[in-house]
Amino acid sequence: MDEIIEKVKEILPKKRFDHVVRVVDMSLKLAKIYNSDIEKVMKSAYLHDIAKFFTLEEMLDLLDKNEIENEYIAREFLHGFAGAIYAKKEFQIDDEDILNGIRYHTVGRRGMSQIEKIVYLADAIEEGRDYEGVQEIRELAYKNLDKAILMEANHKIKYLIDIGVVLHLNTVEMRNWILKVIKEEEK
Ligand SMILES: [Fe+2]
Ligand SMILES: [Fe+2]
Repeated sequence: MDEIIEKVKEILPKKRFDHVVRVVDMSLKLAKIYNSDIEKVMKSAYLHDIAKFFTLEEMLDLLDKNEIENEYIAREFLHGFAGAIYAKKEFQIDDEDILNGIRYHTVGRRGMSQIEKIVYLADAIEEGRDYEGVQEIRELAYKNLDKAILMEANHKIKYLIDIGVVLHLNTVEMRNWILKVIKEEEK
C-alpha cells in the first residue's frame, strides 16, 4: 500500500492528490457502512485518478483498441480505462474489483460490484465536491448505495447534457440498470 501511495503522490499534482485522499476517506467511510473489503477499496480509491494527467498519446498506448473504437468517446472518459491498465502493469494488481473501480469511476457501468459502486460514488461526493444537490446524494449514500448511485447518475446525465458534451453509453446503462435494481428491491 505504501508503494502505491508514494507513486500516486509522485505522479499527481498536489491539488489532485488532495482530491484522491478525500476520495479514499469517503470510500473508507462507505466501505465501513457496507462491510466492504477495506484493502481493496483503498487500493482502488488511491489509484482511481492515476492516469488523469497522462497525455492522450500515453493513454492511447495503454488502451485496448476495443475500448476506444467508439466515435463518441471523449478524452475525459479515457483516464479510468488507461489507469486500470497502468495499475495492473505497475503494481501487478489482478483483482477485478480493484481494477474495475479504477476503470469505471467516471462513466460507471451496468452491473457494478459493491467496490466499484463505492469508488464511483466517493469520487462524486468526496467532501471537496460542491455542486447543487451533492449533500443530498452524500446523505443518501450513507443509507442506500443504489439510490445514491441513481441520484448521482441522474445529476451527471443532466449536467453533461446541460454543458453540451457527449454521454458515455455506460452511464446511461448504469442508470437504467440501477433503476431496475431499485424497483425490484421495492417489490
Ligand atoms: Fe477521475
Ligand atoms: Fe477522481
